Amino acid sequence: DIFTDRKNSAGLNLNIEAERTPLFKQLEQLAGKTWQAVPLVGGNAVAGKKQPVISPQNSACQVGEVVFADKATVQQAVTRAQAAFKGWRDTPAETRAQALEKLADLLEAHTAEFISLCTREAGKLLQDGIDEVREAVDFCRYYANEGRRLMAEPTRLPGYTGELNLLQAQGRGPFVCISPWNFPLAIFLGQVSAALVTGNTVLAKPAEQTSLIAHLAVTLAHQAGIPGDVLQLLPGDGASVGAALTEDPRIAGICFTGSTDTAKLINMTLARRDGAIVPLIAETGGQNAMIVDSTALPEQVVRDVLRAAFQSAGQRCSALRVLYLQDDIAERVLEILHGAMQELSVADPANWSTDVGPVIDADAQAGLQAHLDAAKAAGHRVLAEASMTDACTNGYYIRPTALEIGSIAELKKEQFGPILHVVRFKAKDIDRVIDDINATGYGLTLGVHSRNESFAAHVAKRAEVGNVYINRDQIGAMVGVQPFGGRGLSGTGPKAGGPHYLTRFITEKTVTNNT
Ligand code: NAD
Ligand code: ALA
Repeated sequence: DIFTDRKNSAGLNLNIEAERTPLFKQLEQLAGKTWQAVPLVGGNAVAGKKQPVISPQNSACQVGEVVFADKATVQQAVTRAQAAFKGWRDTPAETRAQALEKLADLLEAHTAEFISLCTREAGKLLQDGIDEVREAVDFCRYYANEGRRLMAEPTRLPGYTGELNLLQAQGRGPFVCISPWNFPLAIFLGQVSAALVTGNTVLAKPAEQTSLIAHLAVTLAHQAGIPGDVLQLLPGDGASVGAALTEDPRIAGICFTGSTDTAKLINMTLARRDGAIVPLIAETGGQNAMIVDSTALPEQVVRDVLRAAFQSAGQRCSALRVLYLQDDIAERVLEILHGAMQELSVADPANWSTDVGPVIDADAQAGLQAHLDAAKAAGHRVLAEASMTDACTNGYYIRPTALEIGSIAELKKEQFGPILHVVRFKAKDIDRVIDDINATGYGLTLGVHSRNESFAAHVAKRAEVGNVYINRDQIGAMVGVQPFGGRGLSGTGPKAGGPHYLTRFITEKTVTNNT
C-alpha cells in the first residue's frame, strides 16, 4: 500500500562516524563557496542589480549575491503561470507526484550544500540543517502520496439509478507561496510541493534573508522535471515583491507562513483587490507555553526546556516562550536550568559543538535586546543566562536568557529568539493559568510535563492550541506524524504535514451524468 509504506527520511546522524566524516569533508570544501540567487521566470535567470548576501554569524562573511525581482518581472511571471496552468492541471497526478519524489531524491543528493547554506546564510546549526533537508524530503514524498490519493481519480458518489455522480479535485490556478527565513528549505518546499502536486502553478516568494537556499531548491525542482513556467522563483522583499504578488487579480490562492501582522496585511490586500475570492492559508506566530506540575521529573523538564526554548536560537514558531512551574517544583527546576544554561555553547553554528547560533539579522537582534533591556529595567529577575564568547561579537547574537515574569499576559508580542519567560503558579490556580494562555489569542504549541495522567489530559483538553506535547519538548513536528499548525492568531489551518492540508489548494467539481 503506497499510502502506508512511506517512511520519513532518516537524515544524518552526526554521532555515527561513517556519516559524520564524509559530511564534514564536503562542508569543508563548501565553506568558501559563493552562491547566486536570481529570479527564475519561465525557467530563465533574470538579470538585475546584485546585492551581497551577508552571514548573520559574521558581518565580514559574504555568502553570495542575490538579484531581487522587480514589478515587471513579477507581472511577467504571473502571466506565464496563468498560461501554463491548464497544461499542469491536466497533467496526470501520478506524473506530478513522481516529479516531487525525484525532487526528494535530488535534495538528499545535495544534502551537504543545503546544510552549508543553512549554517552560512540562515545561521542555523548543523543539526538544524540536517533537519531542514530531512523535513523538506518528507514533505515532498508525503504530499506526493497525498496528491495521488486526492487527485488521481474522481470519487464516485451514490445517486439515483442511471445517474453517475463524480466528484473531481482540481488545481485552482497560479498559487503564491510566501515563506519565512526560519525554515528556508523545509517550509519553502512544503508550501511549493503541496501547491504543485494539486495541479497549481506556483509563484514562490522566499524570505529576502534566505534567497540562496530557495534558488538551489528551485533549480533542483526544475531538474526533477517541474517545468520552468510551472514553478517560478521571485526573490525579493515583502513590501515590493510580496505585495505585488498578493495584489495581482490573476492569482488563485496564497499560502503564507510568517508573522501574524503580515498575514493580516495580506488578508486586507486580498479583500481590496479586483478578481476572484481566493483562499489564504496562513501559518503564523505563537506565544507558546509549557506547564510543569509537581509530579514532573526536573531533569527531563530542563532537557526539554533547553531544546524547546533555545534550539534554532529560539527562532521557531513552535518554540517555548513561557514556562509555567508549579511552586513546589520551581526551585529544583530553576537550579538545574541555571547550571545547564551556563553550559550552553553560544558560537559559530557551523561548529558541531555549538548549541545556540545567531539570530537572523540586525533588526531581530535589536528588537530582542530591547525586550531584554526593558524587562530588566522593569525589575524582572534574570533567573539564568548563557555566556557568550568573543567569537559572537561580529554576528547577530543574543545571550540566551531566562527571565521571571508574573503572567503570560505581560507579553504583548511574540519574542522570536532565545528568551525564556518563567511564571510560578499554585496547583489550585491551574485553570486560571490555562485561561491566561488561551486569552493571548495565539494557539500554536503547548507543552505539559506531569506524571499525573489526568492532569495532563485536563490541560490538553482545555488548551486552545494546535499541537499539545506531553512529557517531551514541543518543537520539531514530524511530517505525517504530528501534523502542525495553530489557530486564532497562530493561523488558519489546515495542518502542514497532515492528511487535510492539500484540500485547501484545490477546487472541487461535481459532475452529474444522467446516463
Ligand atoms: P514575516 O511576516 O516578516 O515574513 C514572512 C514572509 O512574508 C517573507 O517572505 C516576507 O518577505 C513576506 N512579506 C512581508 N511583508 C509582506 C507583504 N506586505 N506582503 C506579502 N509578503 C510579505 O515573518 P518572518 O520574520 O520571515 O518569519 C518569522 C515569523 O514566522 C514568526 O512570527 C514565526 O512565528 C512565524 N512562523 C510561523 C510558522 C507556522 O507554521 N505557524 C512557521 C515558521 C514561522
Ligand atoms: N514544524 C516546526 C516545528 O514543529 C515549526 O518546530
